[in-house]
Amino acid sequence: MKKRLLQLIECKSCKEEFQLHTFNTENLEIKDGLLICPKCNVYYFIVNFIPRILPRKLYTNNKFEEKFEKQITKILKNKNLSEKDDSLLKLKKDTTKFFGYEWVHFDRHGFDDEVYNENFEKNIFHHKTLLRSNEIKNKLVLDAGCGNGRYVYQALKCGAEVVGFDLGPGVDSAYNNTKQFAKAHIIQADVFNLPFKDNIFNFAFTIGVIHHTGNAKRALKCILEKVKEKGTIAVTCYHKGNMLWEFNDWLIRKFTLKMSIPNLMTLSKILAKSCKFFGLWVEKPVNLLFRWEPNISIMFDWYSAPIATHHTYPEVYSWCKEFGINVTEDLRWEKREWIRNIRWIREFIAPDFAITIKGIKEKHSLKFIKPKHVWDKTKINW
Ligand SMILES: C[S@@+](CC[C@H](N)C(=O)[O-])C[C@H]1O[C@@H](n2cnc3c(N)ncnc32)[C@H](O)[C@@H]1O
Ligand SMILES: [Zn+2]
Repeated sequence: MKKRLLQLIECKSCKEEFQLHTFNTENLEIKDGLLICPKCNVYYFIVNFIPRILPRKLYTNNKFEEKFEKQITKILKNKNLSEKDDSLLKLKKDTTKFFGYEWVHFDRHGFDDEVYNENFEKNIFHHKTLLRSNEIKNKLVLDAGCGNGRYVYQALKCGAEVVGFDLGPGVDSAYNNTKQFAKAHIIQADVFNLPFKDNIFNFAFTIGVIHHTGNAKRALKCILEKVKEKGTIAVTCYHKGNMLWEFNDWLIRKFTLKMSIPNLMTLSKILAKSCKFFGLWVEKPVNLLFRWEPNISIMFDWYSAPIATHHTYPEVYSWCKEFGINVTEDLRWEKREWIRNIRWIREFIAPDFAITIKGIKEKHSLKFIKPKHVWDKTKINW
């Protein structure tokens, strides 16, 4: 953890600044330590360079506590901690387990993968955030739900100071993947209890996360609270599929969610390899029936995620209206294959796979005006 991060975070219960106790430093960063709120005594560990700003029900580390027992007991003498109940606790634990496994196992997905490598992800990042050239240069940017940090990395490459957070141990991969950057910060935290000061980020993006939280709308609101007025937010989440696809997906996931991690890995390998074997001509039509991709980590991601809600553009537009996000661009109707130009066929047979919306945070909730233009790749000079 870099000391600079202290300026961006605060105790989420009482909004007091944290006191820092350092146990170890390495390369000017705090490797092990403790953050404590002097007002309400809430404390969090900094373990392996990462502040773990989670309740003890979601993060414990016995090795760390044993190693620094003396220092910890000295600082925490007479500290009494009560923790609030959390109706999403079971989901958060499962998310930590499965996504944690994914981002530790596929720690270099988005960097060294034969398809999902750095160059490929550069395009995807610009596409999913609808980013204009130089838009985030020297800006303070938030990656909400950063996984292994592949998009924290891309934002850093654009010259931003970037804070990435995630619920699970993927943050260790994210830290390792971005530690060479002086302007990178990684935190382990829950989107519903963010430790950042309000209204500080110039730009926040969240890619493939809010539909995995159990309350996508509230997750969006929690992220938005951290964005400055007139700052920008970009969100990508799952779109509803056609009726048959939704039914099949529900049925398959009902089965896969009962599987162990090794079995899920085997299934993901079989799905990915068979998809690769049959090629695009089979993959495309099959994807009208259920999700099938030639990449193991994507298959694992899809079929292991403890929850995945699917949404529609009107639904997400309505959240934006309620929260005061002035939607400026989106990716609706982006693809122009002939079948997709026939509206009703498109909506019922081949709807968009994802929703991508970008907007400006206004002070008050808005009268909604549909965005006029769709993001146009040809106008961008990356
Ligand atoms: C599909 S991954 C996307 C990761 C990254 N944005 C990317 O595109 O590579 C979804 C991520 O959301 C995170 N997540 C789910 N619920 C969360 C929560 N309540 N708070 C923070 N992160 C959460 C998961 O841990 C997981 O890493
Ligand atoms: Zn406090």
